[in-house]
Amino acid sequence: MLGNFIYSNPTKLYFGEDSLDNLKSELANYGTKIQLVYGGGSIKKNGIYDQVVDILNEAGKTVFEDPGVMPNPTVKKLYEGCRIAKENDVDLILAVGGGSTVDYAKAVSVSAYCEEDPWEKYYIRMEDADNKIIPVGCVLTMVGTGSEMNGGAVITNHESKLKIGHVFGDNVFPKFSILNPKFTYTLPKYQMVSGFYDIFNHITEQYFSDTDDNTSDYIMEGLMRSLIYSSRIAITNPENYEARSNIMWTATWALNTLVAKGKTTDWMVHMIGQSVGAYTDAAHGMTLSAVSMAYYRHICPYGLAKFVRFARNVWEIDTTGKSDEQAAAEGLEKMENWMREIGLVMNLTELGVTEDMLEGIAEGSFISEGGYKTLNHKEIIEILRESM
Ligand code: NZQ
Ligand code: ZN
Repeated sequence: MLGNFIYSNPTKLYFGEDSLDNLKSELANYGTKIQLVYGGGSIKKNGIYDQVVDILNEAGKTVFEDPGVMPNPTVKKLYEGCRIAKENDVDLILAVGGGSTVDYAKAVSVSAYCEEDPWEKYYIRMEDADNKIIPVGCVLTMVGTGSEMNGGAVITNHESKLKIGHVFGDNVFPKFSILNPKFTYTLPKYQMVSGFYDIFNHITEQYFSDTDDNTSDYIMEGLMRSLIYSSRIAITNPENYEARSNIMWTATWALNTLVAKGKTTDWMVHMIGQSVGAYTDAAHGMTLSAVSMAYYRHICPYGLAKFVRFARNVWEIDTTGKSDEQAAAEGLEKMENWMREIGLVMNLTELGVTEDMLEGIAEGSFISEGGYKTLNHKEIIEILRESM
């Protein structure tokens, strides 16, 4: 393991079909005023809202509703959440939903008592939170982002056409997260597979970096194999508990900081995908799938040995007698076939991207330097064109 690092993850996880039973005892750790954050109404349709509100009532809490968190939460909504939190002096923000809801809750937690514009402070200047932080708890209903056990909070600013993630420190991680795989059964297939690819790409963003032998890479190969296996079961039988629970657990480990240890990590697909999101508001995982094949084929020659290892260890390609280039290409082909098989969006046109947006999308893609090739503007344009 290269480098020096600290590993600590303060989020307490409750996992399994009975995990919501633990909410009441967790709530005892906080004051009476709860900001209940949720999205556009899926939790009202599938009954999760009623279950959570019953527990809040039994625990004697006063609930301040904060509904309507949209997919890819906006800075405008963030200001609204800050107002609710501050006016009511809430003791806990309870997020019930997917990554958007949980990210938003974290953004509110650091922004409510921020004395300047939180967008400028956290998303433009990327400063740390140095004011009061409201604790966040989470009941997860969509799997993919890892937001349940990390400090990420991605916010979209439609005026400036920027979608930016701030990765806060462990003082902003959810204090607890409740993960019931059955709560994800009602996800539409499009969202379900979008989340599957988000998980996969979180892993590849961290896997395709560095050349040393690192335990993190072996863990990631295991996570990818588990995800590929379970995803194939879940698309034909979405209520297969074994598959959905394994996927939920894989998603958490894919982005809870563990597998990044001792690695530089890439994140370029996410940088491009987020910029696509700022222009289209498309589902996060689909913005990643649409650009991935062009990106990975582009960087493959710069990290060839790792792509051969990926082919062999993740896709079970027999590499004997093959050139490295051929073995690596076969691995990427298998990855593409799997992506098509589970029904991902494989081009930008389908997400509403038009030729006139490409310059702006490239401009809004922050260049990351941890992968095998630091891209320049021209290369991003090429990747976007190939992805149309
Ligand atoms: O809003 P509701 O009505 O709840 O519907 C949501 C939403 O329309 C629906 N949904 C969620 N759970 C459901 C359900 N529908 C039926 N049954 C359920 N059980 O699914 C839709 C998408 O939800 P959303 O929360 O937007 O999806 P996701 O979890 O993919 O989150 C995406 C956001 O997370 C950010 C993304 O950029 C995006 O803004 N990310 C956060 C990260 C982090 N914290 O580390 C990292 C990721 O790379 C990502 O950038
Ligand atoms: Zn992601």
